[in-house]
Amino acid sequence: MTSSGRGFASDNASGAHPAVIAAMQGANAGHAHAYGADRWTERARELIRGEFGPSAEVFFVFNGTGANCTALQAVMRRHNAVICPASAHINTDECGAPERFTGGKLLAVPTPDGKLTPALIEGAITHVGFEHASQPAVVSITQSTEYGTVYSRQELADIAAAARVHGLKLHIDGARLANAAASLQCTLGEAAAGADIVSFGATKNGAVLAESVVFLDPELASEFKYVRKQSAQLASKMRYIAAQYIALLEDGLWRRNAESANAMARLLAERASAVPGVRVTQRVEANEVFAVLPHAAIEPLAAEFDFYTWDERAGEVRWVTSWDTTVEDVERFGAGIARACADIRD
Ligand SMILES: Cc1ncc(COP(=O)(O)O)c(C=O)c1O
Repeated sequence: MTSSGRGFASDNASGAHPAVIAAMQGANAGHAHAYGADRWTERARELIRGEFGPSAEVFFVFNGTGANCTALQAVMRRHNAVICPASAHINTDECGAPERFTGGKLLAVPTPDGKLTPALIEGAITHVGFEHASQPAVVSITQSTEYGTVYSRQELADIAAAARVHGLKLHIDGARLANAAASLQCTLGEAAAGADIVSFGATKNGAVLAESVVFLDPELASEFKYVRKQSAQLASKMRYIAAQYIALLEDGLWRRNAESANAMARLLAERASAVPGVRVTQRVEANEVFAVLPHAAIEPLAAEFDFYTWDERAGEVRWVTSWDTTVEDVERFGAGIARACADIRD
């Protein structure tokens, strides 16, 4: 880890914004009804409805995996399937929890950049009505994607239309929705437009732990309170989760945090691209940078700056910036990348 204590492994590696801690401290006052019947939860729901529309139904949960698994359960039966990119967190990083909770199947589609398209969705819809095959019921995309790319508003509209034509629900994994909205210079609701359900995360945006499931189609939420409880995602002291959302949403702190993280990723990509032997492999549209480095440079660099190797064979690494990443952090890292690559040439 660097002397600043800040590395590039994950936006989950960063701490929480001081305003979030202060809001939790503020919620730590006297007694309040449990399980969400408190004024903080009501206020946070109201703020989220302000972003996603007045009829949105909002449910707080503990973590992103829980948000995704409960959201999918709301729109699936055990014989259904979810069409998602092969790189989707639900496919690669949830230990089979979506399949376990829904009983259904993931139809994972390879993509070059983490993004589905109407053509890729249509290609995955086969054997409809055939009793031997899982029946597609949901399209799940991630905004911003696991590759740090962002769906444009037109791309979102096209995907929503393709899903609708085939009678599929659209789920968005919005663990980094704030980064997408900052990138697109739009509202959170616009960055998720066309979705039926959104896993709207705050943890990576400066919260301690705060995730939510937002139903843009409120009719789909009618049984959700039972799904959430049965999935062990109902918080008794919900006011502490809600207070974190209030801190991020009330005065636009979510956008400042996301804009800063995105700007640091762009700066890092610029610095890295200038180093001979380094190639940035994905468009840098949010707060992640993917790059191929000479193999021998990776280990010493990761030991000093802390990040993950994404694809060992290709020598591809992932660098993630956070709300608290500074210009100095990036400049120091950029110099470290140049040094590590020069060292192996000497
Ligand atoms: C795209 C995406 N979805 C969901 C999650 C949430 O995961 P967790 O269950 O660790 O909160 C993450 C976290 O890394 C993520 O990157």
